Amino acid sequence: MSDLSNKKILLGITGGIAAYKSAELVRLLIKAGAEVRVVMTPAAQEFVQPLTYQALSGHRVYVDLFDAEAESAMDHIELARWCDLLLVAPATADFLGKMNAGYADNLLLTLCLACKQPVAVAPAMNQQMYANASTQQNLAQLAAKNVLLWGPAEGEQACGDVGQGRMLEAVQLLQEVERHFSPGRLAGLRLLLTAGPTREAIDPVRYISNRSSGKMGYAIADAARRQGASVTLVSGPVALPAPQGVKLVNVESAQQMYDAVMQEAEASDVFIACAAVSDYRVDQAAEHKMKKSADTVSLQLVLNADILAAVSALEKRPFCVGFAAETRDVEKYALGKLQQKNLDMIAANLVGEGGQGFESDFNQLEVFWPDGRQAVGPASKTEVAKQLIDLVAERYTCARS
Ligand code: C5P
Repeated sequence: MSDLSNKKILLGITGGIAAYKSAELVRLLIKAGAEVRVVMTPAAQEFVQPLTYQALSGHRVYVDLFDAEAESAMDHIELARWCDLLLVAPATADFLGKMNAGYADNLLLTLCLACKQPVAVAPAMNQQMYANASTQQNLAQLAAKNVLLWGPAEGEQACGDVGQGRMLEAVQLLQEVERHFSPGRLAGLRLLLTAGPTREAIDPVRYISNRSSGKMGYAIADAARRQGASVTLVSGPVALPAPQGVKLVNVESAQQMYDAVMQEAEASDVFIACAAVSDYRVDQAAEHKMKKSADTVSLQLVLNADILAAVSALEKRPFCVGFAAETRDVEKYALGKLQQKNLDMIAANLVGEGGQGFESDFNQLEVFWPDGRQAVGPASKTEVAKQLIDLVAERYTCARS
């Protein structure tokens, strides 16, 4: 889980329909350890009752610039000084305009002016209003004044329009807050990753595959995202939920995985090939379901392209990390692959031993790079992924410096 303990967050809510999402945001921030105080504009109270945020934050909600009771608890200057971050979510077009112009005719606007700590806004409005030159100018000017802009996202809007202007989801805003406080060792880097098995069609209903569950790759995607990387996960068919905050590209065959990876590889800083790619595919998959007839059937298999080797051979190549799942002589095969595929790093594991590897929740790796090695685990795949990502960050920095 994230750690926002000791972080004080002042959450400003303005009058947009997305205000209901901020209730979830309060819950997530508190769950992550933050202390949250909520300030609402008068318009925000038309959408959600202050009591909702009061119940979730465990503190009274500040709504009025001239509220003597609230002022006696903590006056608005004190409130602005109290926080480590002031986040306005949702921030309406009207609020952003006033904020940019320096208005102070409600408590939240006053706090924005009085706050010396970082201020972030999560715009939320109709796509036409967002596209309007005035809004764009306000946002550009706010950014120039060091206001952090988080979002908006694209998608369906409450009014029925589709376009840019949706407030980021609560979980995405939580991630922005986390990134703000600890940018992570892979901050600013694009990490591409393959995970899971591939399926090679025999006919429309049958395929050749393997026992990879995708758990290791998904744990690595999550660990990399937590270290600030923007992660693209190209995944074969698995029974796992999509990791949060990661761009997921679903594929089936090795060829599809190859195509998806090649589209992103040159724009990536790090590539981790964790997928158990089928070495072979059926030469001519049958167009219709094959019928049972002869006692024996032969399938002609042809070699699939090696995705990792292809990425590592690119002229503009990312830092390449491979996996070697072996049933014997791990070190020999791993070091061989490091060389043959021209890798920066290889993570080797002995599969089919001690309940580790494929399908298990635990793993143990021996990680090699051209002039070093390190054991990782045995531990849960989550922990192994964390340690592997730390190593990748370390080696990446060395390789690029
Ligand atoms: O040669 P071998 O298949 O054992 O190498 C394993 C490594 O190569 C893994 O990182 C795997 O994801 C990658 N690989 C690949 N494309 C293939 C075969 C393996 O990217 N066709």
